[in-house]
Amino acid sequence: MTGLAVDGDSAPTAVGQSQATATATAASIRLDDIRCAYGGVQAVNGVSFEVPAGAFIGLIGPNGAGKTTLLDCISGFNRGYSGHVYLGGQDISRWAPHKIASKSLVRTFQTPRLFRGMTVMSNLMTAPPRQIGETIRGAIFGSWKDEEQKNLVHAREVAASFSLQRVLDNYCSELSGGQERIAELARTLMADCKAILLDEPFAGVSPANRVRLAEHLVRLWQELGVTIIMVEHRLEWIEQLCSSVQVMANGRILASGTMNELRKDRQVLEAYLGAAP
Ligand SMILES: Nc1ncnc2c1ncn2[C@@H]1O[C@H](COP(=O)(O)OP(=O)(O)OP(=O)(O)O)[C@@H](O)[C@H]1O
Ligand SMILES: [Mg+2]
Repeated sequence: MTGLAVDGDSAPTAVGQSQATATATAASIRLDDIRCAYGGVQAVNGVSFEVPAGAFIGLIGPNGAGKTTLLDCISGFNRGYSGHVYLGGQDISRWAPHKIASKSLVRTFQTPRLFRGMTVMSNLMTAPPRQIGETIRGAIFGSWKDEEQKNLVHAREVAASFSLQRVLDNYCSELSGGQERIAELARTLMADCKAILLDEPFAGVSPANRVRLAEHLVRLWQELGVTIIMVEHRLEWIEQLCSSVQVMANGRILASGTMNELRKDRQVLEAYLGAAP
């Protein structure tokens, strides 16, 4: 697995060598024999692994390996699978996405799913779950005003921590690829989270913004102490950020280990790069 140059980026200090220190809020994720098919295509074919609370792991593999489908199953966006998903020991298999999000497992998408016709601020405000105005009691007694005020303050704080203050009133359609990714991450974090699934967060992001995005991810992981599974084709970022890596091919886990170990794994080289050393 050569050619893992950092693509002109100056990557942040490697952090994935040890667990995050603040793991009080993190939740482990355990997958037990996940299988999911689309018609005749067996996209995920018996995947089992465990991510300890507070770990930052990578999920890599060639196009069509089943990575996104696996994230869809974990987050409830695909419920047509067999097997079990546990979050912090609780069985969340086949729960609806909003119910899983309310348990503090959140995700981003391969293509950012922001409301492009709304401002960044409005997008951030769509995120907090259980807004009081959504309940009849809250609507009648007006407590939603306090809640909305709190959410506004929280949105400004989140935006500031992601350096998004200058674009808060911009429409999301006006953002660059990198800003979109960062705004999506910020929106995700408006909800309390214990675990985050990231699907190709560096795709479409300029080299300068990739460094910023990586710094945000490191900060999230270290300061919030969340558990992270990151799917990414840019292996230099997997290497910089992740303590261990699962390799998927044809719906199965082919190997796992550090990038150093995987570089020497003939099966991985053949399946992932299509060539033996
Ligand atoms: N909605 C769908 N309907 C039918 N087949 C699908 C659907 N989504 C994915 N597939 C198929 O399932 C398999 C796994 O796809 P998936 O998108 O999970 O792979 P991936 O590892 O995320 O690939 P990539 O790296 O290109 O994003 C592929 O063969 C794909 O064509
Ligand atoms: Mg994918």
